[in-house]
Amino acid sequence: MRKLIVLGSLNMDMSIETDRIPMQGETMHGKDFLMNTGGKGGNQAVAAAKANTLTYLIGKVGSDVLGEQVLKDLSQYGVHTDYVHTSKQESTGLAMIIRCNHDNRIVLHAGANYDITIDEVKDSLHNIAKSNDLFLTQLENPYSVVKEALSYAKGLGLTTILNPAPAQKLEDEVYQTLDWIVVNESECEVLSGIYPDEEHHIQALQWFLEKGCNVIITLGEHGSIACTKHEQYRIPANKVETLDTTGAGDTFIGAFCKCLCENQDITDALQYASYAASLTVSRYGAQCAIPTHEETYEYMLKHTL
Ligand code: ATP
Ligand code: RIB
Repeated sequence: MRKLIVLGSLNMDMSIETDRIPMQGETMHGKDFLMNTGGKGGNQAVAAAKANTLTYLIGKVGSDVLGEQVLKDLSQYGVHTDYVHTSKQESTGLAMIIRCNHDNRIVLHAGANYDITIDEVKDSLHNIAKSNDLFLTQLENPYSVVKEALSYAKGLGLTTILNPAPAQKLEDEVYQTLDWIVVNESECEVLSGIYPDEEHHIQALQWFLEKGCNVIITLGEHGSIACTKHEQYRIPANKVETLDTTGAGDTFIGAFCKCLCENQDITDALQYASYAASLTVSRYGAQCAIPTHEETYEYMLKHTL
């Protein structure tokens, strides 16, 4: 069976709800504080592992109580953490999240996520990877490490997927190491200069395709669009009561990778990912909100009958 190897960030998320975004210099009350394990790398790995995919994580935490908690949670969700390293000098990554009007704003303290080295990543990949496995990463680790890791993974014969978040422009040579890129609307705009509103869907998809990789653009409550050399796809989002969008994109990506590992048809994979992500937004938190395969499957059955 193909397995998923994720190189990515591990954070403790401190999340609080507000009625509006505080103004400059203002202190205001929030509500429904929640602390739970997050980080794009961790969340995407957990989404795949909860969906019954053999999942390994390469990352770094601090030698502190938050790092211990992060590792405990990841293991409990079924992620293999043998290649999560511990930093001697940096503390575990932190994300301060403000939830407001069914959306979020996030400030990161990278901490140990920025302390990972390319040698640690290459050694880990050398030990875990078999040709044909999947390699998934984001941009919450140092860009230089992610870039070289993608090239190394490609050289090992892995299928590579990048979620370029937080967004920054990529060089052409990075696109050449990618099989898939998965962006949300704002990431799409930063990378391509095209905001993917309805009338620019095709143009945005085409832009990434011309760079040399397959592309998925997630559109929040409007679902997702995707394109390979052979086909275009459009998947609507499922209607749910939105409580917390944290980790929606991560769940989508982890669930999509599960389906790629199982060599599923792309339409089925996008649909499965969309059902899983809609369950996440109907719950509070990041990793604690991500559904298991059984939950997603049951939800799909209920909505497709
Ligand atoms: P985040 O950064 O909040 O984790 P994102 O911005 O990376 O998410 P989105 O495009 O917001 O990603 O969402 C990813 C997918 O999650 C969407 O394609 C959709 O399938 C699902 N989704 C997001 N928001 C909603 C919603 N309000 N209702 C139903 N499904 C949603
Ligand atoms: O995508 C959501 C994640 O982004 C949060 O869990 C937070 O830790 C940040 O990395």
